[in-house]
Amino acid sequence: VTAEKAGFDHFMLKEIHEQPKAYRDTMLGRISDDGKSVELKEIGMTTEQIRGISRIHIVACGTAFHAGLVGKTVIESLARIPVETDVASEYRYRSPIITPDTLVIVVSQSGETADTLAALREAKRNGARVLAITNVVGSSVARDADDVITTWAGPEIAVASTKGYSSQLIAFYLLGLYLAQERGTVEEAKVAEIVAAMNKLPDQVESILEQANVFKGVAESMSKHDNLFFIGRGLDFAVAQEGSLKLKEISYIHSEAYAAGELKHGTLALIEDGVPVIALVTQEDLYEKTLSNIKEVKARGAHVLGVANAGYEGEVMKSVDEVFSIPRTLPLLTPALSVVPLQLLSYYASLARGNDVDKPRNLAKSVTVE
Ligand code: G6P
Repeated sequence: VTAEKAGFDHFMLKEIHEQPKAYRDTMLGRISDDGKSVELKEIGMTTEQIRGISRIHIVACGTAFHAGLVGKTVIESLARIPVETDVASEYRYRSPIITPDTLVIVVSQSGETADTLAALREAKRNGARVLAITNVVGSSVARDADDVITTWAGPEIAVASTKGYSSQLIAFYLLGLYLAQERGTVEEAKVAEIVAAMNKLPDQVESILEQANVFKGVAESMSKHDNLFFIGRGLDFAVAQEGSLKLKEISYIHSEAYAAGELKHGTLALIEDGVPVIALVTQEDLYEKTLSNIKEVKARGAHVLGVANAGYEGEVMKSVDEVFSIPRTLPLLTPALSVVPLQLLSYYASLARGNDVDKPRNLAKSVTVE
């Protein structure tokens, strides 16, 4: 069994460490040799069809849904198509407006989640084209979709998804760029800039992983609490939601992810002495706003761990108790880095609580009932 885990104590830790490879493999063959364009040969839509898309629905469950939240921002900012996101178990029952020029993107690591599959079929019945992002070639979702982008993350065994999620982010970056190229909403130089930054992500994740031990201590003190918060704005809020889910799934510590600016509309009442708050501060255009939200929780006694971009840690440290810095990348790409420290925190918090990291209670890797 140790051999299967390649020397790691748990599948989850192994899979966290496989992310640089998952990123490289998911990008492989999908970027032109000159680095100036994205090539998604697996997408059968013509340029005309892509130009005709009037709206996109991203539908998924759990962690895959959280990847979709990032996907929304990526697609809207690059390809300028309006995107809605839904959890699959809600989608079918809210009579969504699905037209033939709607593209429905379903995201599923396993490709077997019953709710996601049912949503896919409903979308097709209504005449939408369906594109799937999945990690399993030949899965039910892959078979039923019109177009499939495979995330080449390799088998994911731990119930809590790590490389599954982050490779879905890479798929969304590629897809966002591809749609933008076809619709002419992005300059070639911009594509080249994003692609160049994407190519650096695997090594940047590696450099975060080299500091994995840093999180043990923080996670141990976190594990003594029953309640904590993740806050962030914009893409940081999307990642905060994934960080919160990861922690709940395997450590059983209750946490809530909050859009940092929304705290004062209620949740701030729950911040009291010593409550841990994990604050993501990677979106530079929202930097000052997030810092002022951090001050609001600090003033109520919260113990704040900041996740900030390298170069900003000194400044952020003035407002937080501890700071972890992630390597610099483009704002759009930061989720592919900032999620890694959150995965490690969850892992070590689960360990500190003596839980079964890879097989948390009450959860299944793939839920094939609705
Ligand atoms: C289950 C797992 C989650 C996962 C979700 C969606 O609930 O416990 O970790 O995110 O299913 O799985 P999928 O395979 O569709 O991405």
